[in-house]
Amino acid sequence: MDDKTVSKLIAAEEKRQREGLELIPSENYVSREILKAMGSVFTNKYSEGYPGKRYYGGQVNTDVVEQLAIDRAKALFKADHANVQPHSGAPANEAVYHAWLEPGDTIMGMELSHGGHLTHGRPGTISAKLFNFVRYGIKDIETGEIDYDLMREIALKTKPKVILAGFSSYPRELDYGKFASIGNEVGAVLMADIAHIAGLIAGGVLANPLDFGFQVMTTTTHKTLRGPRGAMILSKGKVGNPLQGVDKTVENLPTLIDRTVFPGLQGGPHMHIIAAKAVAFHEASQPEFKVYCKQVLKNAKALSDALMKKGFKLITNGTDNHMMVADIQSSFGFDGSIAEKTLDRIGLTLNKNVIPDDPLPPYKPSGVRLGTPAITTRGLGVEHMAQVAEWMNKALRARNDETELGKIAKQVKAFASSFPLPSDS
Ligand SMILES: Cc1ncc(COP(=O)(O)O)c(C=O)c1O
Repeated sequence: MDDKTVSKLIAAEEKRQREGLELIPSENYVSREILKAMGSVFTNKYSEGYPGKRYYGGQVNTDVVEQLAIDRAKALFKADHANVQPHSGAPANEAVYHAWLEPGDTIMGMELSHGGHLTHGRPGTISAKLFNFVRYGIKDIETGEIDYDLMREIALKTKPKVILAGFSSYPRELDYGKFASIGNEVGAVLMADIAHIAGLIAGGVLANPLDFGFQVMTTTTHKTLRGPRGAMILSKGKVGNPLQGVDKTVENLPTLIDRTVFPGLQGGPHMHIIAAKAVAFHEASQPEFKVYCKQVLKNAKALSDALMKKGFKLITNGTDNHMMVADIQSSFGFDGSIAEKTLDRIGLTLNKNVIPDDPLPPYKPSGVRLGTPAITTRGLGVEHMAQVAEWMNKALRARNDETELGKIAKQVKAFASSFPLPSDS
């Protein structure tokens, strides 16, 4: 039976994706193989537990596919352990907090308006209700440099049990060595949330926090890593039996994490997504993926240069990774939500975003955030970035001119439609 209503919506969404340019830096396009795994009969199976240690029968294939995903993830990130069951990035972070901390304990994370994610202690979230968050942030908005001296001072005073390196809207590399030296001085577990940059780390173009003494990394699998919507937790330490309790030591983090994910936080793993994660990790280990990651960075640099030439004020004046944050309010005199809507109208999708210490509220913030992972997957190169910047600039300056916006929208549609979706072949 065909559910015509949903089929039509799927077709409409595919058309939208095909005819527009996706600039949201946390989005990407998966391959046909990944789509196939996500749409597979693995979705029918209950597999509570871990490979070889399940609470249901019939695990002859699920055990193999989950172990494959685990082994591939470990190899990709040089981790001792991988838990590939978290349904998404937010519960992955929650699982690590609960594996190591008690309510009331202190976590040091990035100032939210400087780039930190909601799960890094935004007031109102479950973790902010349970744990005490203290902050580090950038010292210089022109370069984006983190204030490591102040960070150390605050860490010495507040004694966080976890120091969390990671961001959703920060366009520069972190100095993981400095995080590690502060963390070691105060005896904190070093955790990196690499949700945004996991693909770029796997592809070898950005540093891997595990090489600098970090003990835990969480990541989504659907951003630069270009896999299915989901997450995983990677850790260093001794891999134990998740059915048995262990002492709370750094060495036992893998087991503490496994026991917190299941049965602590989740029930049955989504085996169709785990199968798709296994495919994605294989794809990310291929030489073509390294080429892709290099291109993501080249395109981001070219796009940020082209935008600055057009008069966009970029936070930190550029980017070292796949994303940039533009201060629309000071560049154009209106807020980021107006920019988001105007660019939606011409088929360029990005998101409104706060800028550091934004004077405007989060729903109508000063900035927008954009990036190159998805357009690079579509096949755009450095030579196309000036055109993207030109469309953005023209549309924002003509935001009340329907005729001009309509003209640009047609150009974007014709251009975007000439680049296939990876799931086409
Ligand atoms: C750094 C970071 N951590 C965690 C998450 C949460 O991931 P999810 O939306 O899959 O829960 C995000 C999502 O954007 C993120 O950017």
